[in-house]
Amino acid sequence: MRFSFSNFGRNRSTMATINTLEQYQQEYQKSVNDPEGFWAEKAEQFVWKKKWDSVLDWNFSEPKNKWFIGGKLNITENCLDRHLEKRADQIAYYWEPNDPHAKAVSYTYKQLHEQVCKFANVLKNNGAQKGDRICIYMPMVPELAIAVLACARIGAVHSVVFGGFSASALSGRIQDSDCKIVICTDGAYRGAKGIPMKDTVDEALEVCPSVEKVIVLEHTQSNIRMVEGRDVMWKNEMEKVNADCPAEPMDAEDMLFILYTSGSTGKPKGVVHTCGGYMVYTQYTFENVFNYREGEVFWCTADIGWITGHSYIVYAPLLSGATSVMFEGVPTYPDAGRFWQVIDKYKVNIFYTAPTAIRALEVAGLDFVKPYKLDSLRVLGSVGEPINEEAWNWYNINIGKGKCPIVDTWWQTETGGMMISPIAGVTKTKPGFATLPLPGVQPILVDDKGNEIIGNGVEGNLCIKFPWPSIIRTTYGDHERCRQNYFATYPNLYFTGDGCKRDEDGYYRITGRVDDVMNVSGHRIGTAEVESAINMHADIVESAVVGYPHDIKGQGIYAYVICTNKNKDQEALRKEILAEVTKVIGPIAKPDKIQIVSGLPKTRSGKIMRRILRKVAEGEMNNLGDTSTLLDPNVVEEIKAGAL
Ligand code: WTA
Repeated sequence: MRFSFSNFGRNRSTMATINTLEQYQQEYQKSVNDPEGFWAEKAEQFVWKKKWDSVLDWNFSEPKNKWFIGGKLNITENCLDRHLEKRADQIAYYWEPNDPHAKAVSYTYKQLHEQVCKFANVLKNNGAQKGDRICIYMPMVPELAIAVLACARIGAVHSVVFGGFSASALSGRIQDSDCKIVICTDGAYRGAKGIPMKDTVDEALEVCPSVEKVIVLEHTQSNIRMVEGRDVMWKNEMEKVNADCPAEPMDAEDMLFILYTSGSTGKPKGVVHTCGGYMVYTQYTFENVFNYREGEVFWCTADIGWITGHSYIVYAPLLSGATSVMFEGVPTYPDAGRFWQVIDKYKVNIFYTAPTAIRALEVAGLDFVKPYKLDSLRVLGSVGEPINEEAWNWYNINIGKGKCPIVDTWWQTETGGMMISPIAGVTKTKPGFATLPLPGVQPILVDDKGNEIIGNGVEGNLCIKFPWPSIIRTTYGDHERCRQNYFATYPNLYFTGDGCKRDEDGYYRITGRVDDVMNVSGHRIGTAEVESAINMHADIVESAVVGYPHDIKGQGIYAYVICTNKNKDQEALRKEILAEVTKVIGPIAKPDKIQIVSGLPKTRSGKIMRRILRKVAEGEMNNLGDTSTLLDPNVVEEIKAGAL
């Protein structure tokens, strides 16, 4: 039986529901007092093929978190079909190419719907079925969003891998979720550089027997190798299909996507999000945090390879029927005025970027800002890492001209959507503070033993004590890992891995990771991952990696390495290590500093004392804290003397 459209979704408005502080407080209270009623009301604004039987079933001990149980929907019907009546000819995406002189392209909702349906049929023709995992490895071209939505249309699970990852990182992710199809481009442009995407896919697939088909989009017209029987061209396949593709009815708790992210130990893990809760939460946060108004132009500069791009380039803006800019390039190409030029070109109203970009553009100087009016801007956003006060002020004064609220949004791949953030124009902001929890979010700070830290003017480990609709459901193929990582540190709490202050006003300020995860230019990288890449080098016996404060990147990567070959030229060794890390992970994980040492500071039980290594990397040589448990204090003296 085909489900017919229910009455839901008919009368919804795409507008913020929180416009005053009082409304925020009321919504927040309601979300805490009656979470099920609160989220059911939000969910009713969508098109469901069948209404849910119950709103929430949860416990943090297994963990089990289910929302809108028994509900059936397809997220693409909510992103596309339901808008066709009213906004068929409205632009969904303005696509701005890397090269400002290349042809910009735009897609209306009608055109996007048609492309998604056609490509969904291409996927089916190539053997994709509901539940199959499909890996997408593409630069920021419109077809990346189309591919993501086409997977969702047919109920296939997308696993987007950031285009900067190496063949080895790509193959690890493909293997972990047994992807059946890979979608890629021939190549990519990144500033002045060309990147061979298809060659990387070919190399990765040498060890990925699950992959049956590769669909290649021509983008850079570079020379590529096509494997007979496996590889097909996007364009040829699109010519074989029509644009009629009914949306697959999905259970609210069916998997929507997997997105790999780094943790403090081991390999990156596949964070799983499901259809219903993710849809409801991302749209709600988009509209309220940015105080989105019908007709506005929104630009999120993230890459779709990360969660910010999934939630706030693909899904939420489309769910809201918004017009977005999608940008292929980098902030500094052809010069450091590119962001500002693009804002003027498309009259962007809401601009969402990362502190690392703000800092880099600040260093480039105001001469790159001055030629642009920037008068369309109404709201500015920040995401991905703590924003320092100086960058916040620069952004506020020079880009927002002192009149655009800045929303510093704290959230994670695992949370699916924004969690602690000002509401634009409503919450009084404070530089460096993510301010207050959004409705539905119940943060608590705990000490290392898990005791709640009560009151204001305090600091602790940030946890969340109640589920929100887009909470992580599992880590793909390994539920126990999900439990261990997020729900076992403190019983009955979701542990974020972040440290956090709550000031006298009850405002939250994220201080950074308290685990062994680094945040480099807004990218999450595990120290263990970098160490295992470095250890692949034949001359390295052991290494230890820590983050240290970096003016532009937020954190830089500092590696201490022990080399067995005493005659090795140090510069050559450093170069080889960088090449090794690039090969195993990708250029984003290359250490900024490599110190060659003869030993690492260890406790008598053989544990590396990272605290000491962090202090040395931070330049705090004389403040190493308690070193009495060290096995060999001489090691520390040597490390201090050779610090970079
Ligand atoms: C950090 C990105 C301070 C934090 C959406 C978190 C932030 C990690 C902020 C998640 C912020 C993100 N202020 N720190 N506004 N936003 N972080 O999974 O350490 O790539 O745990 O998600 O980034 O990174 P992820």
